[in-house]
Amino acid sequence: METHNDFNLGPEEIRALERTYLFSTYKRSDLYCAHGEGAYVRDIAGRRYLDFLAGISVNSLGYNHPRIVGALRDQGGRLIHCSNLFYNPFQGLLAQKLAGLAGMERVFFTNSGAEAMEAALKIARAYGSARGQGEKSRILTLRNSFHGRTLGALSITTQEKYQAPFRPLIPDIGVVEALTPEALAGAFSDRVCALVVEPVQGEGGVFPMPADFMQAARELCDRHDALLVADEIQCGMGRTGKFFGFEHYGIRPDVVTMAKSLAAGYPLGAVLGNGRVAGSLGPGDHGTTFGGGPLACRVALEVLAVIEEEGLIRNVREMGDYLVEGLRALARNHPLMGEIRALGLMIGVELGAAARETVDRLLEKGVIANAAHETVLRLLPPFVITRKECDLFLETLDGVLGGIESEKPRPS
Ligand SMILES: Cc1ncc(COP(=O)(O)O)c(C=O)c1O
Repeated sequence: METHNDFNLGPEEIRALERTYLFSTYKRSDLYCAHGEGAYVRDIAGRRYLDFLAGISVNSLGYNHPRIVGALRDQGGRLIHCSNLFYNPFQGLLAQKLAGLAGMERVFFTNSGAEAMEAALKIARAYGSARGQGEKSRILTLRNSFHGRTLGALSITTQEKYQAPFRPLIPDIGVVEALTPEALAGAFSDRVCALVVEPVQGEGGVFPMPADFMQAARELCDRHDALLVADEIQCGMGRTGKFFGFEHYGIRPDVVTMAKSLAAGYPLGAVLGNGRVAGSLGPGDHGTTFGGGPLACRVALEVLAVIEEEGLIRNVREMGDYLVEGLRALARNHPLMGEIRALGLMIGVELGAAARETVDRLLEKGVIANAAHETVLRLLPPFVITRKECDLFLETLDGVLGGIESEKPRPS
């Protein structure tokens, strides 16, 4: 078999190496990625797949965007890393841009989403300890949330399957059990230093926050002198049809976390804070070797320029509407399809027990998607997606669902 990788490994060899030498943390699908182009990725045999997952909301500009490749090549040839002991020309520029977009004052750069959450948690605890003489350390999180796998981020990720093996987690975390203002008010007290919210829960199954819940979140944080932390790691950067997910709710958080598509696949995360927290981390309070390096920041500046100059957020809104319309039309013929939830190009379709099988069969037909929370078909296509590609996706999904439905007699 012809293989498109410099090491000339076939699927069996790739699998065998991983099985032997990697911790078995990932349940991988049978796709051996070799290179990408726009909304498509090719496997090592040269087969093309339409990607409606975009590396889990990372490859938002599509694969191999020429301006991103150009920035990587150019900066890679100049300076990849210099550590945070010294200045690089791009960190301050990127911080200025992000702060301006979010209405924030300060930025700290990390290498991943989980690390951005760790920094946010430290800001929250520092804010509380400056006010509460040790009494204001409680952090509220929502049931079904996902904030990452490091111990701090995991402590506010309230999904049993992720937390169970790693207890005890960090103390003084409160869980809001329902997305209602009443449930939120019931969990609040003056001991709370922060509430952490994904404006659209992603891993939990694509749940946009209800508007009254977000408004109550802002009010309760103000009333109890607590920070509202928006985790924009998956839903930020334009994914929902506005630059930040929180913009849909007419409120502004105090702290914002970002990562995923910030540098189009080159690892970079950030935590942003407003004036309330500008003084909460001082010299020596936090740090990282890699975070905010010149290559990552230069690429992120290019990502922001491309999003703006190519009008990509408008395309997110248009293609999001187009896909939802198409999915609603499909739902009329497919009893398997349940609720469709969407904000821009962050789309979830309830498929019950058929979600996993749908994803597997889509892959067989050359389309990449994902099952979130086991029962939800999650779609996170790149912002550059076209109508034609949406049509191809809908047509393929139509065939796959038809196949599953015809094989399984409907319950009477
Ligand atoms: C909302 C949210 N927060 C945090 C994270 C963790 O980011 P990372 O995987 O880069 O650590 C993720 C990753 O899926 C996420 O979706």
